[in-house]
Amino acid sequence: VKLLRASNESVKLAAEIIRSGGLVVVPTETVYGLAANALDKLAVAKIFSAKGRPAEHPLISHVFGLSQVPSVVGRWPETAQSLAEAFWPGPLSLVLPKAEQMPMVTTGGRATAAVRMPSQEILRNIIEAAGVPIAAPSANPFTGISPTRVEHLDQAIIEAADLVIDGGQCRIGIESTVVDLSEGEPRLLRPGSITAAQLEEILGRKLNWGDRTRAPGSFAKHYSPKATVRLIEQMGDRPGLVYSKPALANQLSMPQNASEYAFALYGALHQMDNLGLSDFWIEKPPSGPEWDAVLDRLLRAAS
Ligand code: TXA
Ligand code: MG
Repeated sequence: VKLLRASNESVKLAAEIIRSGGLVVVPTETVYGLAANALDKLAVAKIFSAKGRPAEHPLISHVFGLSQVPSVVGRWPETAQSLAEAFWPGPLSLVLPKAEQMPMVTTGGRATAAVRMPSQEILRNIIEAAGVPIAAPSANPFTGISPTRVEHLDQAIIEAADLVIDGGQCRIGIESTVVDLSEGEPRLLRPGSITAAQLEEILGRKLNWGDRTRAPGSFAKHYSPKATVRLIEQMGDRPGLVYSKPALANQLSMPQNASEYAFALYGALHQMDNLGLSDFWIEKPPSGPEWDAVLDRLLRAAS
C-alpha cells in the first residue's frame, strides 16, 4: 500500500500522514518532491536524513493559497505580489524573510524562506487537506537526478517515505525558477521554465543573477548521473544524448524545442544511467535565453 495512484482516498491519506509528521512522495508540475509538514521540525529533519542532504540546504515550502503565505514568509512586498499574480500557481519559488513560526531546520538555518504555490492539482489537494505548508525538495538522494516519474525513484527514498503518490509524468520536468526578493534588488538564484525575460517583464527591470552560493544546491555538482557525463559539440558515435542528428545505438535523440527538451531531460538521464555505462556524453544544445534552464542542468550533470 506504499504506492498509490492519485484518488480522493490517497489524497486524504497523504494529508493525514503529513499532518502526523510523516513523509510522502508527491507529484508536482516540475519534479517529484519528498514532502513533510514545513512547520514540523522532526518531520523536516526526516527529509534531510532520507536524502543525505546537508543541513544548510534550505527547502521550498509549498502553499495551497495566498492565505498560507504568512505562515512561511514574514514580508510580502509588491514585487512578490506581482510575480505571484503573474505566475502562481506555477513553477516559481520566491525567497523572502522567513515567518517567525517557520523552523530553522526548514530554512537551512537562514533568516529567509522560499515559498511557491504549485499548479499540480493532486498536490494542491493534498496541501489543502493537510492545512499546513508543505516542505518538499526534489525526491532524489543528494546530488542525484530529480525524478519526473515514480519509476525514477531511488529505493532508499521509497523506503524512507510512508507513502508514494503516483501522478504520472511531471508536466514541466525541471525544477522551479528561484528568485530572491529578500533584499532590495530581485535576484535570479536558479533558472527554470519561467524565464528571466518573463520575470523582467513583470518586474519592469533587469533581473541580475544572485550570488548562487546563497542558494545551496544550486552549486555545481548536482542532478548527477552515476556515470561520468561530458558536454560535447560533436557527438559522433559516442553513447549519450544527441541533439542535431538521428540517434545510433546507445544514443537518445533529444527534442529541438527547449521546453520539450526540459520535459524529456531527467528521464533521458535516468535511462542512460540504467545502461550502467561508466561514461556518456551530451551533445550541446544551442545557447540562447530559452535554453538557460536546460543548460544550467546540463552543466551540473556534467560537472
Ligand atoms: O520545482 C521545485 O522547486 C521542486 C519541487 C519539488 O517543488 N523542488 C526543488 O527543491 O527543486 P530543492 O530542494 O531540490 O531545491 C530548492 C532550491 C535550492 O537551490 C535551494 O538552495 C533554494 O531552492 N532555496 C530554498 N530556500 C532558499 C533560501 N531561503 N535562500 C536561498 N535559496 C533557497
Ligand atoms: Mg533538488
